[in-house]
Amino acid sequence: MYKIGVLPGDGIGPEITVQAVRVLEAVGRRYGRDFKFTEGLIGGAAYDAVGHPLPPETLDLCHNSDAILLGAVGGSKWDDLPSHLRPEVGALLPLRKELGLYANLRPTRVFPALINASTLKPEVVSGLDILVVRELTGGLYFGKKSKEPLAGGGYRVIDTLEYTTPEIERIAHLAFQMARKRRNKVTSVDKANVLESSRYWREVVTAIGTEYPDVELDHYYVDNCAMQLVKNPRQFDVLVTENMFGDILSDQASMLSGSLGMLASASIGGEIGLYEPSHGSAPKYTGMQRANPIATILSGAMLLRFSLNLEEEADCIERAITKVLDLGYRTADLMEEGKELVNTIQMGDRIIEQIESGV
Ligand code: NAD
Ligand code: IPM
Ligand code: MN
Repeated sequence: MYKIGVLPGDGIGPEITVQAVRVLEAVGRRYGRDFKFTEGLIGGAAYDAVGHPLPPETLDLCHNSDAILLGAVGGSKWDDLPSHLRPEVGALLPLRKELGLYANLRPTRVFPALINASTLKPEVVSGLDILVVRELTGGLYFGKKSKEPLAGGGYRVIDTLEYTTPEIERIAHLAFQMARKRRNKVTSVDKANVLESSRYWREVVTAIGTEYPDVELDHYYVDNCAMQLVKNPRQFDVLVTENMFGDILSDQASMLSGSLGMLASASIGGEIGLYEPSHGSAPKYTGMQRANPIATILSGAMLLRFSLNLEEEADCIERAITKVLDLGYRTADLMEEGKELVNTIQMGDRIIEQIESGV
């Protein structure tokens, strides 16, 4: 039996998570795997229910699970709470840190059926396959912060971008190892022309690179990388970068595939992996069954692959999604003329039908 902790969270979180759970159940039935799902509270939903966005019971659930599936957290209702009670800073970041999840993998590829869904020209995005390896427990998000009043009124506000040698080394190793399973190319992204932390990042990544002579390494400044991602995205295989650069570049990269609603993620590095779509809680769609559940369902496939070592089952989910897209079913974010519009639940249904019919 595999124990999967499920943290639906806020906004569209519950709607998309339930579809991923249904899909995992379907694949479990097909391959004779017993998944036990246990739900926990996180984010604004947890704050409303018990007064804290990351209750101790949720942490216990995570520690007692083989892997965790998360929807999304956050929403304007909780934006003005003190930092430590906000869904993002009070729950998501400490959960990643507590579980030692220093690497966030965000794969962008273009499903052939979605070639026209991207805002970029088909010839620019066709066949692209990029893996963003985002450092997840250091950098600007976790450095020292402060807000001090100024004598003459106003404040001095500080966020610090900090990294240690081991933190850079381990994420670099992971990026090179990932590249070896792909097209043997790593692009490290930094701002070494300005930032001390980036100059050292580049130095360490270069040194680690000598241990992987079969993997090509190049370095881009983050501003140029953002431009190259829309100019010629197929030049990239693995992009490895600092926490906040990775946050931004991965959302940007998602649009190459047609929608942020397609961008899955795996947060790994500790004993227990956390799997969540890269997007947020899309508050304006809450309760409408309009959101695309595919990023969450693909995150479920990553959960099977990385945490449970169920490669065949993961492949099956990806084949089912490919088939459903080939058949022309689209959620609103991907809708084009001539395709059939489906809602969140119907997209889940279509994918499950494929799994059940032996795709
Ligand atoms: P968002 O990712 O929620 O939404 C960005 C845009 O993409 C919106 O137009 C949204 O409607 C659309 N979108 C996102 N997911 C979609 C899906 N599955 N299907 C269709 N459309 C989708 O980002 P935001 O609006 O900047 O933030 C909203 C809230 O989510 C904030 O509170 C933010 O802090 C939080 N957030 C949480 C996470 C997380 O839990 N990992 C990630 C990002 C943002
Ligand atoms: C993401 C989100 C989070 C991040 C926020 C909500 C803390 O944007 O998972 O990409 O920046 O890591
Ligand atoms: Mn983000």
